[in-house]
This record gives sequence, C-alpha cells and structure tokens, in this order.
Amino acid sequence: MDGQESRFLDELQAFLHQPAIELLFSLHPNTTVTPDFIPPEAWSSWWEWAGEPTSDTESKWQQLWRYYAPDAAPDEGDFAAIPAPLRAYLRRARELQLSRSQGTEASVPGLERRDHYAPTSKAFPRNANLHGMSPKKTHEVQYMSKYAANMLSDLAAHGTVIRHAVDVGAGQAYLSRALRDDCNLRVLAVDWSSVQEEGAARREKDAERAKGKGKKTQRQADQHDAVPPDDTAAARLAYRKIVITADSLVTVTDEWVANQHDLTGASGDSSDGTPVALVALHACGSLTLDVLRAFVRQLRFAQTGQAPWRPAAGLIVGCCYNLLRPEDCTSLTGRKVNFAESHLQLAAQMPLQWCRTDAALADASLAARKIAWRALLSGIMSRSTEEQPLLSGRTRELRRLGRLSDSAYRDWEGFLAIAQEKLDAKVVGVARDRVMESRLEVFHFLRCVLGPVVESFILLDRKQWLQEQLAGLGNAWEVRLVNLFDQGSGSARNVGIVVVPRSSR
Ligand SMILES: C[S@@+](CC[C@H](N)C(=O)[O-])C[C@H]1O[C@@H](n2cnc3c(N)ncnc32)[C@H](O)[C@@H]1O
Repeated sequence: MDGQESRFLDELQAFLHQPAIELLFSLHPNTTVTPDFIPPEAWSSWWEWAGEPTSDTESKWQQLWRYYAPDAAPDEGDFAAIPAPLRAYLRRARELQLSRSQGTEASVPGLERRDHYAPTSKAFPRNANLHGMSPKKTHEVQYMSKYAANMLSDLAAHGTVIRHAVDVGAGQAYLSRALRDDCNLRVLAVDWSSVQEEGAARREKDAERAKGKGKKTQRQADQHDAVPPDDTAAARLAYRKIVITADSLVTVTDEWVANQHDLTGASGDSSDGTPVALVALHACGSLTLDVLRAFVRQLRFAQTGQAPWRPAAGLIVGCCYNLLRPEDCTSLTGRKVNFAESHLQLAAQMPLQWCRTDAALADASLAARKIAWRALLSGIMSRSTEEQPLLSGRTRELRRLGRLSDSAYRDWEGFLAIAQEKLDAKVVGVARDRVMESRLEVFHFLRCVLGPVVESFILLDRKQWLQEQLAGLGNAWEVRLVNLFDQGSGSARNVGIVVVPRSSR
C-alpha cells in the first residue's frame, strides 16, 4: 500500500473516532423520540434547522443530498440556508470515501485510474448459463467472468498458467459455470447450503436443456461425443458442501486437486503445486476474510515445496458486513476501530446513488419515510407503555409491527390504522409530527453518509493487511481494489480484491 493510502486509512480512522461522529453511530432514530430525549449539544447546528417549517416542497434531507452528492464542489452560496457546520460535515464525509466507478480502481479520491483487466465493454453475449438469473446477477457474473478471463490470459502470458479455480460461497454456482465455460477452467464450487447445491444442480440441467434447444449440427454432435469423459462440462465442475473456514477451504481444495490428478492422470502442474485461483462473488461477512487467510496460509505452506496446490491469483468480492464474526469486527491492521452493529448496517448504504434517477429518488424517499414513521410510532408507544428503545433502536412494539408493505406508508392515517390493528393499541388520530419527522429524516441521512466511509475503511484495511501478509512470500504480490460492477445498476457491493503476482501487468 502506498503512503497515500495508508495516510487515508489513518484519516478515516480519525474521522470515525470523533465524538460527534461516534454519537451518530450510537444513537438510533428510535431513541430520539422518547419523551425525555435531549438532543446532544453537538447536534444544535442541525436539530433546529431540520425542524423549521419550509415553504419548499423539497424535504430537508433532499437539500442535503443535493449539496453532498455532486462530483464537483457545490456553490456554497446556493446552500447558504444549510448551517455551516452541517455543510462541513457533509463535505468531509464526501471526501473520505474511495472512488467507486466501474472499471476503475477503488482508490483514494484524485488517484482514480482504469484497471488493466477491466472489460472495455459492458455488453456481453447471452448464453445458456445465464438462464434464470436476475439482470443484476447477470451483470455481475458476466463482468466478473470476463474480468477473470483477462486476468488469466495476462498471467499466462507472464508464465503462470491457471487451469483450476475454487469458487468460494458459490451459491447456485452461476459464476462457477461461467468460469468453467468462458475461462476454460476446472472449478470446485463450495458452499455450506444443500439448498444451494440442489439449486446449482438444477440450474446446470436448465442450462443444458437451454443449450439443447439450439439444434446441433452433426459435426458438433460428433465433437461432443469425442470429448474424453473426464473433460465433459460436468466433470469440470465439482460441488462440495462444507462449512468454510480458512482451514477447511485449504483441506477441501487439497482433496479436490488430488482427485483431479487421479482423474486426469496428470501430476501437479509445477513442482511447487498446482496453481489455483481463489474466487468469490459476494462472500458474505467473514467468508471474505477466510478466503484471504486461506490464500496466505497456503502460499506460506507452498514455500516448503510440499503443497499439492498453491494460490496463484485471487478475485474476491465481499458483502454483508453485518455477518462478520465478532472477532472480525475490528481493524485487521491494528488501527483502533471497533465496528458496532450500526457501523456494519450503515456500511451497506450508498447515498451517492439515491437521487440519481426519479426511481432512485422515490425509493430513497420511501426508505426515509419508513425510518421516520416507525420512529414516530415508537415515540407514541413509548409514551403509553413506557418502554424505552434499546440503543440499537429495537423495541418490542416495532418487532410486533414487523415489516410492512410499501403501501402501508402511503398516508399517515392508514399507517396508524395498520399499526393499531397489529399492536392492539389506540394510535389512530395521533397527529403527524412533521417537525420531528423532518429531523428524523435528516438524522437518517446524516448517518447514511457515514456508510461509504466505513466501507472504505474496511476495504483499505483488508488491502493493507493482505499486502503485509504477502510481503516476502515468494513472488512479489500486487493487491488491488477494483470496482467490478456498476453501483448505479444496483450492485452495491461492487469492489473486488484482486491478488496477482507482480510480474504480471
Ligand atoms: C451472498 S451469497 C453469494 C452466492 C454466489 N456466490 C452468488 O453470487 O450467487 C453467499 C453464499 O455463501 C455461502 N456461505 C456463507 N458463509 C459460508 C460458510 N462459512 N461456509 C460455506 N458457505 C457459506 C452461502 O450459503 C451463500 O450461498
């Protein structure tokens, strides 16, 4: 990691540690509506402003978004009505995030550059493997498989030929099949879920059927029949159902690689073990860290010359930070950051995308309303039940209310009627508190802009840790964070950790 990234990581840590920022993480909207809540001193700059009536149809949080989101610095004069400390906060939160445009490295602002392996086109031909996939998943699988193809051909040009890949947390093995067919790899798909394994097998059959619909020429049929049995599509994709840890991932790969040699009669590809790519698409929570740990551990072992396989490249996209194991909710590089539940929940937010289109604005407005109305309801209930929300914002009443359909939030009276029925408490007729509603929406926005800061910290921290671990292990290794997918198309967790020998491009 270069000095700039390391300094940026320190800045992120310092920002997240400021008492006023910690307060935004530790208080939940539901905790601000109880009768004895007194807004903290640090909020005085925005609390009053957010509650002031406005003739504008635009809500206060939307004004803040217009100030926060543009790439170019906004004209301060246009936003003079927003309190200056609030503007300073939003500017800082905007600066403290990695750049996220597809095809570029996720880097410190101002250092964006195109990634070498990023596909130049986003349009890919459809094939039978995509059968049954959502547009989002199709986008991700196609882009990632093309990215992997570019990476593998570059590695091959520099002397590392990879024929094996492990798809970790493979789910229904969409990516596994794409890697097998588009990158000509033998793939091991691992997942702990039998539902996923059965789904993967079903999807393989669907894809076969979809392929079969196109009429085969006699020549194609002859060619197919001539394929040796160990090289059929089915033989080139194996599934294993296991609970993945760094250790079990190494073991299952050992067994698979040994089995590959038995099947093909080949010995290891090279004296220091069969080169294997470790790949994961949306490896949730600690699974991403387990892949990275397995990579490092096996590379270390490969140095003894006794390993059956060695990690030769990595392409890993994480997700669901809220599923990190408790011991992983901290900085890997020893910085003083501990992630509470709210940090990890908020890290999923991507407020820069919120109002980019009318549909995105409608979604964001609905989400803000849900947060505000549920908090208002919790406040109303707390007056009668004296139940205080936990710091996480959870209350027994809101749990009983459960998730409601979007239409439940169409109008206040209708919302109260549904709540009254579900909670068996008299709430219909309570006036809509628009002052508090606006404050709650603003509070929600101020918390959400912290999400990309937290995610940037997590990503850079992982990068730096991996670089430290790989330093001195065999080849010089390069670790990059790459924006593989388009956040604007809904692929929120779009950053891949790419690990390749430095001798490649
Ligand atoms: C978000 S899904 C992604 C699935 C697939 N890669 C895709 O993109 O469609 C994460 C997958 O990881 C699996 N998984 C999560 N943690 C796991 C663990 N510790 N061991 C095995 N599988 C795990 C889940 O069952 C799930 O299929």
